[in-house]
Amino acid sequence: MERVEGPVAPMSAFEWDAALATGHAEIDRQHQELFACSSRLLTAGPSAGPAFMELYESTRRHFDFEERLMRDIGYPHSFTHALLHSRLLGALNAVRQEIVAEGLGDERLRTFVYRWLVGHIVEHDRPVATAALAR
Ligand SMILES: [Fe+2]
Ligand SMILES: [Fe+2]
Repeated sequence: MERVEGPVAPMSAFEWDAALATGHAEIDRQHQELFACSSRLLTAGPSAGPAFMELYESTRRHFDFEERLMRDIGYPHSFTHALLHSRLLGALNAVRQEIVAEGLGDERLRTFVYRWLVGHIVEHDRPVATAALAR
């Protein structure tokens, strides 16, 4: 499993926190949706397939949105950011079998999902939102 740097996973559900807000309403709405999908996956138990696909597809749509936004505003780090998106999707895909078979009960899997969500938002999405709002 690929290691994703970021804050340590919480013990309870994946909860959206106002401290994660980027200030860009649509990005924040989509991030909240990803947290909701992750929480559904957390409680999906052994039949986690559909919940995983929902998270995966929501993530893909969200990344497309951010990549379009970066192109539209001429964001200088769009290439690197899009590369990180594709790595995250790859990493999520790589743990798919494990999640579908075992759900998210394992603390290691929960940590993985939480880190890629929170770590990426804080480090990489915030600057995009700030740049978009400054225009
Ligand atoms: Fe992003
Ligand atoms: Fe994002």
